[in-house]
Parts: sequence; structure tokens; C-alpha cells
Amino acid sequence: MKHFIHETDFSFDETKEIFLRAFFHKRNRRKRSIGELVGQSWGLLFYKNSTRTKVSFEVGIQELGGHSLTLDHSTSQIGRGESIKDTVKVLSRYLDGLIIRTHGHEVIEEFAEHSEIPIVNALTDFLHPCQIFSDCMTILEKITDSQNPFEGLRGKKIAFLGDTSSNMANSWILASAIFKMQISFGGPSSYRPSDKIDSFCSTLGLPGNWLHTTNALEAAEGADVVYTDVWVSMGCEDQAKQRRELMHSYRVDHRVLSMAKENALFMHCMPAHPGEEVSQEVLDSHQSILFEQAENRLHMQKAILHTLSDFCQNNF
Ligand code: CP
Repeated sequence: MKHFIHETDFSFDETKEIFLRAFFHKRNRRKRSIGELVGQSWGLLFYKNSTRTKVSFEVGIQELGGHSLTLDHSTSQIGRGESIKDTVKVLSRYLDGLIIRTHGHEVIEEFAEHSEIPIVNALTDFLHPCQIFSDCMTILEKITDSQNPFEGLRGKKIAFLGDTSSNMANSWILASAIFKMQISFGGPSSYRPSDKIDSFCSTLGLPGNWLHTTNALEAAEGADVVYTDVWVSMGCEDQAKQRRELMHSYRVDHRVLSMAKENALFMHCMPAHPGEEVSQEVLDSHQSILFEQAENRLHMQKAILHTLSDFCQNNF
């Protein structure tokens, strides 16, 4: 059974094919219905809020000819204590795949352990792989002529500012290791990437190559992309005051962006908080590509589901 829980779950060739498929789905969105998921039902299970993920998966499944249904954790029996094992064994009898957004990464791993259908990670506290693949697609589209991430992304410098201990920071560490990019973090020393992501990289024999500085300008220097995310992620609301105090010097503003390459991209996975992690001026600038990122979630996730479905039918 093939799952997409970590950026590293697909091989080199499979990852390249997913990117090519994502560009194909983008080019052909309005031209034809390809129908890779015809007759299939995919479930979405959310333990946390979502706008982009929920809508892009539901629309994507529909555009591939499939049917989607969204379950909310609190109104399902799992919210009243039914075990993950029983839940996923039952859902495996109904569905062709299950997309999950949850808190702890161990939750999605437990789903995958007992599942007879593909499980897709729609965000955990540890990783956000659908977002990072979509972001890498967007970078390829904007600054290279290549659709092959192994060619087009090699050597690109990403500066990630703010909460450098977050799931997005971890996903950038994995993406930069896979595609041989450079990742430079600028954030408070108490919010450095965790040992867990370094251990994960070592277990897979991946270079966990990242630099961390407490100086935002230094982190952004010479970058092709300046990236940030919310300072108070879902589940961290009780630390809001402390986080805002510690991270205020990592706001992406004109001064920070001007340290990057001329015409560097500004990226944010959204939802954005203007005046907090990013200035309104940067959000409104021609360098800002937030909405392209958000759109590419749809095309990339269609490619991921298409590929997982091919695996189930032994077509890959
Ligand atoms: N970027 C992202 O995952 O957006 P949502 O939280 O709206 O799904």
C-alpha cells in the first residue's frame, strides 16, 4: 500500500512523474476531463481548520471524476473515542483513499499502519508535504524553464523566516534535501528546527543541510525565494504572546526582501496575517506569488491522487 505522508515516500522517478503530471493537470484543467478517479470515493478527515486544503482536494477529486466526502473529527465517532485502528479498517471498506489533517504525526502514522487504502497527509504538526510539493512546482514555474524538480530546483536558495521549528520549516528541510536546494533559516534560537527532523533525515540517509541564524537580513541575503508562515500555528494559541514577542524581528518587509536577489519571489502558504509575519507592502508587491501557490495545490494534489490510484491498480 502506497501512502503520501512524507515528502520522501515516492522514489526519484515517481516524484519526477508527479511533478510532470501536476503541470499536465494545470495545462489541461479546462480542456478535458481525464477521469483518473472515476468510480472512486475519497474521504477527507479534518481534526483542524482548513480552507485551501479542503476545497482544493474536494474540487480536485471531482475534476478527476471521483466523489469526495469530508468528515469532521469532532462529529465522527473518532471524536468520541473510537480507535484509529477500527476507524480506518471500517473506512477502508468504503473508500478508495483517505486524506487526513491532524495534530500529531504519530496519528497519521497509526492510520497508515492499519489502512488498506492510501493515506495522504494534508498537514500534521511535523510535515505539510502537499503544500511543499505545490510550492516547489510554483518555484519551477516562476523561475525556471524546467518541470523537473531535480533539475530546476538544484542550488536554489530558500530563506525561511519566523517560526523555524514549524511543520513548514521541516518540510523545507526535506524538500531541500531531496531537490538539492539550500535552506537558510532566520528565526529565534528557541525556535530552531527540531532534532526530530534531523533524525528523520539521517534515518533516510538524506543530508539535513540547513543553516540557521538569528539575523533575518543575513538569512535572506542572496535568496531566490523568501518564505514565511504564521507565527501562531494551529494548536499553539496558548503561546501567542510569547511567539509574537520573539518573532517580531523576523517580519518579511521591504528591507528583508531587498537583501534577497533582485526579483526574488515572496511565498507564504497562507492564511497570511498582514503586519505580523509579513508587511502589507510585500504582500502587494509584484514579487508576491501567494495565489499561484494556493492554485497549484489543486494541480499538485490531483497528480498525487492520480499516482496513488495508479499504484492501487498496479498501473504505475
Ligand atoms: N496552506 C494551507 O494548508 O491552507 P489551509 O489551512 O487553508 O488548508
